[in-house]
Amino acid sequence: MSHHFIKFTDVTYRYPDGTEALKGVSLTITHGERVALLGLNGSGKSTLILHTNGLLLPTSGEVNIGGIPVTKKTAPEVRRAVGMVFQNPDDMLFMPTIYDDVAFGPRNMHLPEDEVRHRVDDALNAVGLHDVADKAAFQLSGGQRRSAAIASVLSMGPDILVLDEPSANLDICARNNLINLLDSFRHTILLVTHDLDMARQLCPRSIIMHEGRVCADGLTQTLLSDTDIMRDAGFM
Ligand SMILES: Nc1ncnc2c1ncn2[C@@H]1O[C@H](COP(=O)(O)OP(=O)(O)O)[C@@H](O)[C@H]1O
Ligand SMILES: [Mg+2]
Repeated sequence: MSHHFIKFTDVTYRYPDGTEALKGVSLTITHGERVALLGLNGSGKSTLILHTNGLLLPTSGEVNIGGIPVTKKTAPEVRRAVGMVFQNPDDMLFMPTIYDDVAFGPRNMHLPEDEVRHRVDDALNAVGLHDVADKAAFQLSGGQRRSAAIASVLSMGPDILVLDEPSANLDICARNNLINLLDSFRHTILLVTHDLDMARQLCPRSIIMHEGRVCADGLTQTLLSDTDIMRDAGFM
């Protein structure tokens, strides 16, 4: 995929129980951009990002990733391009060791085992977890589990990184390491966060959601200092 863009065109999503979580979302995130997705609990952030790799498909409208319309059929291909780090790292770690968790994706891609080892080493080094490769997830701290979940996505070599509240429950040191790690990722990043300082540090652009709609989209520095916008989004 040569163009790592994310494009939503008038996307609505209704959960099976009738909840309208997205009410007509249009946005474009271009190759190499880093964008923070902000908004109160329940505003639709997680629902939106689950559309970026086909885990949810729109009730109406279209999601396009790098030129490929996301459908049930294209979802496996899209998932190779979009690495998603879920809100709860425990949803992503299920193998006997951290090494195997990080190797899971590359092995699933049927890569030769020496390429798998190379990718796992690189990903574990990137998140500073090389020394605990042989441990099980339950033996790690919360911050280490979060890092392991990120490594399990980095080992797939994603073009686009989507993260759902990755700094939640991290101590200052783990949070700073995370910011440095994301800062070194050269591709497109979509970052759901409540951590406005992290948004300021990493993402020149922010999109703010409110009740299933995009209520603001622009420079992070400008949006976060605009009291009308922050009040409308429910932040104050
Ligand atoms: N599985 C689900 N079934 C029904 N409603 C859901 C489900 N998941 C989320 N919702 C609802 O969809 C809306 C958006 O939720 P969500 O995308 O999780 O928001 P956020 O990530 O911004 O907190 C909320 O009203 C939430 O209650
Ligand atoms: Mg959420």
